[in-house]
Amino acid sequence: MNESDAKKRIKALSQEIKAADALYYQDDNPALSDAEYDALRRELVALEAEYPYLITKDSPTQNVGAKPSGKFAKITHSVAMLSLDNAMNDGEVTEFVARVKRYLNLPEDADLAFTAEPKIDGLSAALRYENGKLIYGATRGDGKVGEDVTANLRTLETVPKQLTGSGWPDVLEVRGEVYIEHGDFDAMNAAQVKAGKPEYKNPRNAAAGSLRQIDPSITAGRPLKFFAYTWGELSGPLADTQFKAVKRFGEWGFYINPDMKLHDSVESIIAHYHEIEEKRAGLGYDIDGVVYKVNDLALQERLGFVSRAPRWAVAHKFPAEKAITTLEAIDVQVGRTGALTPVARLTPITVGGVVVSNATLHNEDEINRLKVKPGDQVEIQRAGDVIPQVLRVIGDVEGRSEDFTLPTECPICGADAVRDVDEKTGRVDVVRRCTNGLSCPAQAIEGFKHFVSRRAFDIDGLGAKQIELFYELGWVKEPADIFKLDFDAISKLEGFGETSASNLKDAINARRAIDFDRFLYALGIRHIGQGNANLIAKHYLSFERFQAAMQAAEIGTDAYADLMGIDGVGPGQVSALLGFFQSENNRAIVARLLGQVEVKDAEAPSNDSPVSGKTVVFTGKLERFSRDEAKAKAQSLGAKVSGSVSAKTDILVAGPGAGSKLKKATELGIKTLTEDEWLELIS
Ligand code: IVH
Repeated sequence: MNESDAKKRIKALSQEIKAADALYYQDDNPALSDAEYDALRRELVALEAEYPYLITKDSPTQNVGAKPSGKFAKITHSVAMLSLDNAMNDGEVTEFVARVKRYLNLPEDADLAFTAEPKIDGLSAALRYENGKLIYGATRGDGKVGEDVTANLRTLETVPKQLTGSGWPDVLEVRGEVYIEHGDFDAMNAAQVKAGKPEYKNPRNAAAGSLRQIDPSITAGRPLKFFAYTWGELSGPLADTQFKAVKRFGEWGFYINPDMKLHDSVESIIAHYHEIEEKRAGLGYDIDGVVYKVNDLALQERLGFVSRAPRWAVAHKFPAEKAITTLEAIDVQVGRTGALTPVARLTPITVGGVVVSNATLHNEDEINRLKVKPGDQVEIQRAGDVIPQVLRVIGDVEGRSEDFTLPTECPICGADAVRDVDEKTGRVDVVRRCTNGLSCPAQAIEGFKHFVSRRAFDIDGLGAKQIELFYELGWVKEPADIFKLDFDAISKLEGFGETSASNLKDAINARRAIDFDRFLYALGIRHIGQGNANLIAKHYLSFERFQAAMQAAEIGTDAYADLMGIDGVGPGQVSALLGFFQSENNRAIVARLLGQVEVKDAEAPSNDSPVSGKTVVFTGKLERFSRDEAKAKAQSLGAKVSGSVSAKTDILVAGPGAGSKLKKATELGIKTLTEDEWLELIS
C-alpha cells in the first residue's frame, strides 16, 4: 500500500469506526459485531503504526480517553428513589384510602386530603441544588444508585441551573420525570427516517436514549422536558403539605403539572381521574395513570414506606390497551423453576405504542378455558411492563374440545413434566413442571439469566446470548463458574473481541463483593423476591449467620420461630428457604460461589435507640397507633419485630385483650410493657 492509499484507507476506517461508535453508544443500536469492530480498529492501529505522520487528532485511536465508555459515573441516592404501588380500578383506590386511614388509626369516615396528578410516562431523574445552584443530576438506576447525567440534564430548558425566587433550603433535591412531547417525538422520528436510522418505538424510549447520551451536545438537540413532582434530600422543610411543596417548585423555576389538584374524598379523586382520562389524548405527552398522594407531609412521614414504595401514594393506572390479531402458533417455554409456559406467537401488532408478537397463555387450564387454537383471531391486552395476555378468541368457540395438555415431557431435556399434587389439600397444581432441576438446560440457563440480572448480580455485558453460549460450551455449569471464566478464550470467540472480553472481565470483577440481599435474591430460591431478600438480610445482617440459621431451623426450634417471625416472610418462603439450604448439593454450590465472591454484611440498624437490636412482639389491641404503624416504627428504630414469643424475645408490648402471648412471655420472664410505657421508652 502506498502512502496515498494508506491515507484514504485511514480516513475510511476512521469514519466507519466513528459511525459504529455512534450507533453503539448513542442509539443503543450496534451495527457491527464486536469482532468486526475490533478488526477495523486493529487495521487502523496497524496502518497508523506504519504511517505515524498520517495520524490525525480526531482519529478514533487518539481519543481512547474520551472514547465513550458507554457508562456514566455512579451516584448513590442519599434518599432512595422509590416506585409506586398500582391501583388497577376504583375498588383498589377505595381500598388504598381505607388502608391509609387504618394505618393512621383514623376513623373510616375521617376527612383526609390527597393530591391527584397525572402519572407521566417518562423516566425519573433527581436534581441536586446547593444554595440554589444545580450541582448534579442523576437517573433513578436501581433506586439506590443512579447514573451521573448532569451534563445532559443541564441542557434541558426546563431544568433551572440557578433557582429563581427565594426561600429554598440550602440542600434541595428535586425529583421528577424527563419526557418528550408527542409533536417533538414525531419530528424526531421524521429526522431519524431522513437520516436512514431506525425510528424510536415510543416517546419514553426516545427520552431514555436521549438522556443517556455520552455527548451532551446530542442531548441538547433533543426535545427533552422535565416535570418536578417530588423530592429527595432536603436540609430544611419545604412546606407542610405536598400541594404547597410542589407549588414552591413552580416558584423556583420548575415546570409543574397544571393538572395537580387537591381532593378530600375518594369520590372526588376518582372523578378527577376520569377527567384526566378524558383529556389524556389531548395532553400532548404520554401518561399512564393518575398518582394520589396524602397531602399532609407529617402524615406522609408517619406512613413511611414498605419495601420499594411509599404507603402514602398510589398510581391509579389507566386500563390496559387491547388489540385484535392472529394467533399463529403455541410454543412451550421452560422457565427458571421448570414451569412449562405456553406462549402464543402472534402476527405482530402495535398495542399502546409497542409492537407485540408474543403473549402468555399461562398454563393448560387457561388454554382450555379460552378454547384457543392456532389460526384463531384473538383479543390481546398489554398493561405497563407486564407480559401481554390473550383475553379471548374472537368468534364462536362452542363445541370445541377442552383437552389441551402441555407435553408431559420437558421440551428441552425430555425429563418428566408433571403437575404436582399438594399433599395437604390434594389439589393439582395449575403449573406443569420439568422435574430435572438444574440438570435441565432450560432451567439452568434461566437460572443464570436471573443470577446476572439487574436486581441480582447486575453484570453488564452478560446477557441471554452470552449465557447461552457459555453454557453450551460447558464454561458455566454453576454460578461460581461465572467468576472463573477464561477471558482470553472469550476474546477469541466469534462475535467477541478483546474489547468486549475485557469489558466483561471488568464487569464481573466489579461484582466480587455484593450486598447480602442481592446475593440471596440471585440464588433464585422460589418465593424469595427482592423484597423478602431485603427483609431477611436486615434481620440476619450477615449471610454466614443466616445460612447457619437455615441449617438449624427445624420446626420447633428457636431458629425456626425466629425465621417465621420476620414480618413479611410467610410459610411459603420459609419452606422454600429451608428446602434450599437443607440440600447438600445446594450448600456445596453456594460454598463454591462464596469462594469467588464476598457477601457484604447488611447495614446494622442504628444502635443509638434503646430498642435497637432488640426483638419486640406486639400483642393485644393498641390504642394510639395501628399495629402496622407500631411495627414499622419499631423497625425503623432498629428493633426486630416478631409475631411470636420465644426465648429470643426481649420486649412484649401488650395492649388490652392480650392472651396467650402475654402468658408465655410472663412464664419466660420477658419484659412486658403497656403501649404507653413503650412510647415512653422510644420517645
Ligand atoms: S411520585 C416516592 N408522581 O412513576 C414515589 N411519580 O411507578 C415518588 N412517575 O418512579 C414518585 N409521574 O418515575 C410520582 N406524578 C408523579 C409521577 C411519578 C410519573 C413515575 C416515577 C416513579 C414511577 C413509579
